[in-house]
Amino acid sequence: MSLGLLERFGAVLALPDEDPRKTLAVALVLCLACSVLVSATAVSLRPMQEHNAARELKREVVKVAGLDDTDIGLEQAFARIETRLVDLDTGEILDNADPSVYAYREAARDPARSRALDEDPAGIRRRPDRMPVYLVRDAGEISTIILPVYGQGLWSTMHGLLALAPDGRTAKALSFYEQRETAGLGSEVASPKWLRQWPGKTLIGPQGEPVIEVAKGRVDPSAPGADRRVDGLSGATLTGKGVESLMAFWLGEQGYGPFLARLDGLQ
Ligand SMILES: Cc1cc2nc3c(=O)[nH]c(=O)nc-3n(C[C@H](O)[C@H](O)[C@H](O)COP(=O)(O)O)c2cc1C
Repeated sequence: MSLGLLERFGAVLALPDEDPRKTLAVALVLCLACSVLVSATAVSLRPMQEHNAARELKREVVKVAGLDDTDIGLEQAFARIETRLVDLDTGEILDNADPSVYAYREAARDPARSRALDEDPAGIRRRPDRMPVYLVRDAGEISTIILPVYGQGLWSTMHGLLALAPDGRTAKALSFYEQRETAGLGSEVASPKWLRQWPGKTLIGPQGEPVIEVAKGRVDPSAPGADRRVDGLSGATLTGKGVESLMAFWLGEQGYGPFLARLDGLQ
């Protein structure tokens, strides 16, 4: 602070307490001090938040991989899962890229590493060029393929993980580990009860087209096509439609479609 500014500040402080200029000056200094404090706290906590977010993601991956009921710890369970990066346009796995340092959310904001979407059913505006996928093996053979998916609900972007059987068409598990839909309504999208319906559902049809639908109301299990439909969320049709739309996007041509079409050749 320059000497002139200090002198002026001293002069304002010397004013009587009831002078509005003094009230304003004190309020201004208080605001500045508080904003510096809040910014410094936010910056110093960021590494811890990032560490916690990465740990939370690992926990979710291990959960949808079905490895969370083993006695081994989180890090060891996660180490049993291969993380690979996929070029979404070609569907190829990129062996020269390190997935452990790749953040798809950052890539989606970077025009050099993502592209704007004309057709955007998931409401995400830009799609990263690359996405991580997680592969679980059983005696060397791929037993589960886990795809990160995300898209707009009613109020928030919902981030989830979709586990597929090796056929690349049948769901094994779904989780939403980040969403801010209304508690008790849209947030039921992350409830174990709703997610329990997903294993065994057919997500992709014979021509490679996404077919999974979120019904309005309940699905009659004996009705034709019941294997391609899950119950709607009561009082939260729009969140449910958000899930249907993000599935249509990520399982389609602009999402993991090209990768899933090449699964047969995947080692
Ligand atoms: C306070 C409030 C919160 C709501 N939150 C959600 C929500 O998280 N997800 C959702 O789909 N609909 C939510 N709705 C309801 C929607 O506005 C809309 O009515 C609903 O999605 C229609 O679904 P329904 O046909 O199952 O009633 C909310 C409504 C209110 C008044």
